Amino acid sequence: MNKSVLVVVTVGLVLLLNMDACYGQLKIGFYKEKCDYEDVESIVNKVVNESFASDHSIVAALLRMQFHDCFVTGCDASLLLDGDSSEKKAIANLNVRGFELIDKAKTALEQACPGIVSCSDIIIMATRDAVALSGGSTARYEVKTGRRDGLTSEQANFDLPGPQISVSNTIELFVSKGLSDTDMIVLLGSHTVGIAHCNFFQNRLWNFGGTGSADPSMDPALVETLKSQCPESANNEGVVVNLDQNPSSSNVVDNSFYQQIRSNRGILEIDQKLALDPSTTDAVATMANDGDTFLKLFGKSMVKMGGIGVLTGTDGQIRLKCSSANWSNFE
Ligand code: HEM
Ligand SMILES: *[C@@H]1O[C@H](CO)[C@@H](O)[C@H](O)[C@H]1NC(C)=O
Ligand SMILES: *[C@@H]1O[C@H](CO)[C@@H](O)[C@H](O)[C@H]1NC(C)=O
Repeated sequence: MNKSVLVVVTVGLVLLLNMDACYGQLKIGFYKEKCDYEDVESIVNKVVNESFASDHSIVAALLRMQFHDCFVTGCDASLLLDGDSSEKKAIANLNVRGFELIDKAKTALEQACPGIVSCSDIIIMATRDAVALSGGSTARYEVKTGRRDGLTSEQANFDLPGPQISVSNTIELFVSKGLSDTDMIVLLGSHTVGIAHCNFFQNRLWNFGGTGSADPSMDPALVETLKSQCPESANNEGVVVNLDQNPSSSNVVDNSFYQQIRSNRGILEIDQKLALDPSTTDAVATMANDGDTFLKLFGKSMVKMGGIGVLTGTDGQIRLKCSSANWSNFE
């Protein structure tokens, strides 16, 4: 091989390796030095801090937002798009909240460095920050960034399960997204924060499966409490209860959800089944007994979920607005 060929090959190889490092895959600190002298992650962090100070429930809002974004056409912020038939309008997404926080972060980032930071990365970074604020330093995990935003948004309710899904179907769904059964068990632990509307669990209180009585797997004391919160003949629209029935940690990312479901105090049917199903009951016991292990696994699984179907390189776009934009607004 003569000298010039060697140079060409070497330059080509270096370019190739470099391209691989800059595009095409997510990495930790993707935005370092991409936003003048501003630190992208701390701009997001500041917005999350401010929101959290006035409302601890944003951690639940963001966790659910990341789940619903990532499970439908990947983590591409398609959930944020407005439009008559957009994902946001899907029945499963009607109570998703936290959009204002994402918009606020996006506005701050556009001021610092226009057109650089994707809405999909904002969801991932903000969720990470809220989890760390809520769950403490053990709950903090590093996230990879470099996602780009999707150009389409459609309703896909089949990707978002209802509360009566079985454990085996849930595992199947998670495996279809490249996640493991352990990821499923750990990520369902997100129900350690946030709320559920009566209509998602009322069927368990009175005439469960046509039996004329309550779901026998629910603690009878909890049945009574929930019956008074969600009266049978009332319009319970807008009435909510905590998914984690431990009142001292209903907005804290911790392992108390697993302790509750082991005491038959799960709110959603799937939550209770997780504790009872032979395929998941041992893992639930492990999580219930070891909060640090849960938090460590939780971070890992959140990162894994954040990698589902991401757009990188030249795919997708860096949307200029997260929510009120639509998919006609190209870069
Ligand atoms: C089989 C899987 C799952 C089912 C069937 C399910 C179902 C539900 C339902 C019915 C609600 C109540 C919504 C409402 O009344 O507004 C809810 C809330 C919630 N879910 Fe899930 N979920 C699942 C998995 C997950 C995962 C994997 C995460 C996150 C990683 C998650 C995070 C949340 C959070 C944080 C809330 C509370 C939202 C709030 O307070 O606004 N869920 N889920
Ligand atoms: C957000 O709050 C955390 C915890 O109080 C703090 O460590 C961090 O520096 C704050 N971030 C910003 C950007 O102010
Ligand atoms: C989407 O944006 C385009 C261009 O900005 C606009 O003409 C169109 O009406 C918008 N569509 C919807 C559904 O908002």
